[in-house]
Amino acid sequence: MRELEKCLAQSISEDSFIKKICAPLISGGKRLRPLLFFLCSGKAAPVPLATALELIHTASLVHDDILDCAKKRRGVATINATYGAQIAVLVGDYLFAKAFQLVAEGNYGSKVSEILSRLVKNLCIGEIMQDRALFAVPTLSEYYTRINLKTAFFLSTCCRLGAIVAESDEDETENLAAYGENLGLAFQIVDDLLDFFGEENLTGKILGGDLKSGVITLPVIRALSQSRDAETLKKIIAQGSVSGEDVQTTIKIISATDAAAYCKTRAEAHIDCALINLPDCPARFALEQIASFVINRRR
Ligand code: FPP
Ligand code: MG
Repeated sequence: MRELEKCLAQSISEDSFIKKICAPLISGGKRLRPLLFFLCSGKAAPVPLATALELIHTASLVHDDILDCAKKRRGVATINATYGAQIAVLVGDYLFAKAFQLVAEGNYGSKVSEILSRLVKNLCIGEIMQDRALFAVPTLSEYYTRINLKTAFFLSTCCRLGAIVAESDEDETENLAAYGENLGLAFQIVDDLLDFFGEENLTGKILGGDLKSGVITLPVIRALSQSRDAETLKKIIAQGSVSGEDVQTTIKIISATDAAAYCKTRAEAHIDCALINLPDCPARFALEQIASFVINRRR
């Protein structure tokens, strides 16, 4: 992980403006993706590939914040909030290009490039789906498709790539990939819960950000099917613009239902699935610890 930090710092140091605006954002990440990659690959892990995964993730967050008009990320002002969407598009592109430079220089082969291309395509499709359905309530199945594409597939890819560079057999590779996928589903459900019930100083994001940007997530989907005040919630969503007061009303409505417990139970079920076929590899204990972090996290 220390080597990763060095490689990340180098990746943004070619240009002084890029360095200045990316350093605070880069330093605030949890490093979940490279950590999964390292743990699933053992000693064979190439640091530049792990760095590329973190850079792709960071690039996607920079672009995500433009789409969401988000003001805060990882406890600091977003690039779009400080420098505008034009600069933020280009900074995201830069990080993305840097990731693929590291991949090209590492010569990891066409299989790795193909897996990374699929990863980015899925991220884009997930975001497009989400963006085309703002302020509309997705079905449970639509919600799952979306979180699979934008989060679960990424964590699964990190595990898969780790297994591939370690030349694991097919069974172990698929089991590690399944661990990553379920971990990702749990991660996103918890993320969606934290959007309403997190502490801003820990999440580093503004409360109710998903709802404000029109992204309707599992706590709201569940509350709509359970609450006596479902009509009020429907009206808030149908307005197409959500105020701070609307966020507070929504939190009250969600809190009066079983939605938070329902989300937690679903996330826990994915964690159980993640762990069930976890291979008896040296990293098993650490992968279990990550699973427990994902379910209990507040940041
Ligand atoms: C955060 O999720 C965003 C993502 C998981 C994916 C964003 C992907 C793109 C913008 C497309 C790909 C772009 C590139 C450059 C690779 P969230 O919005 O649920 O979480 P948040 O609350 O942290 O914003
Ligand atoms: Mg977002």
